[in-house]
Amino acid sequence: MLRLGLIGHPVGHSLSPWIHEQLMELEGLEGTYELFDIDPEEFDQQIHALKDKGLDGFNITVPYKERIIPYLDEVDSSARALGAVNTVKNTECGWVGYNTDGIGFAASVRNRYPEIFSNEQRVLLIGSGGASRGIYHALMEAGLSKIDIANRTIEKAEEVIKTASTNNDSKALSLNKAAEQLNDYGLIVQTTVVGMSPNDQEVIINLHNLNEEAVVSDIVYRPLETRFLQEAKNRGAQLHFGHEMLLQQAVYAFHIWTDANPDASLLLEGFEKKLKGV
Ligand code: ATR
Repeated sequence: MLRLGLIGHPVGHSLSPWIHEQLMELEGLEGTYELFDIDPEEFDQQIHALKDKGLDGFNITVPYKERIIPYLDEVDSSARALGAVNTVKNTECGWVGYNTDGIGFAASVRNRYPEIFSNEQRVLLIGSGGASRGIYHALMEAGLSKIDIANRTIEKAEEVIKTASTNNDSKALSLNKAAEQLNDYGLIVQTTVVGMSPNDQEVIINLHNLNEEAVVSDIVYRPLETRFLQEAKNRGAQLHFGHEMLLQQAVYAFHIWTDANPDASLLLEGFEKKLKGV
């Protein structure tokens, strides 16, 4: 009997229980996935209580991906480099932390558009928060080295680039500059909350100069097809959706806990229905 869960604040609308219940069913495993909404003021006490529960593993969502780190017994190297953990496994050596967000993104793009990796396309990331950082590191590890980052606050894009361990050709850009030279990029990834419901009319940059052969991705999954993606589609681009990343990062977490390798694509249709509320 697997005992899994999620900590965060708030966690009430999380899709993770649905995903992990489906994954358990797919793999013929019995178990539970519980939600733990932790008040920031009671964090320390609640985490100690969680240790006593002896779960097999759990996920961590906002705002605790950094705050959990001092409570872990080990942190894998890429999660340590990012300074953020979204998955913990309970092992004989104690709690071990991982981060599956970036590799979930990279794998979900690769499943659909493998040519991006074989042709070493130039990549533009829009935004410089935690999500951008994870995706930046994972795409570098997947062999893409020409990754520019555009952000409203250009200094923050520069900081993300400095965190890369290898020398690279990345540049930090303003949003306007990125819009001007958009035609240069084969993969464009929107990593901010701009365009998320209820602000679903917002688009972070003008797509006028988009290369019609580009793949355009938005990590926002509410709505499923953001205005940013709709505009990209109207200009002929191919799309990659935020919910594909969400599903794949969960599959990686599930693999860490159980060693199983479920095929995320088997859940995609059901997940889309769930997101659309049908
Ligand atoms: P997360 O960790 O969830 O990725 P974050 O650290 O709060 O989120 O980062 C949010 C990102 O969205 C930042 O790149 C932020 O730009 P700034 O660094 O200039 O603040 C970007 N962002 C948020 N709202 C924005 C808006 N209205 N227009 C442009 N960028 C925005």
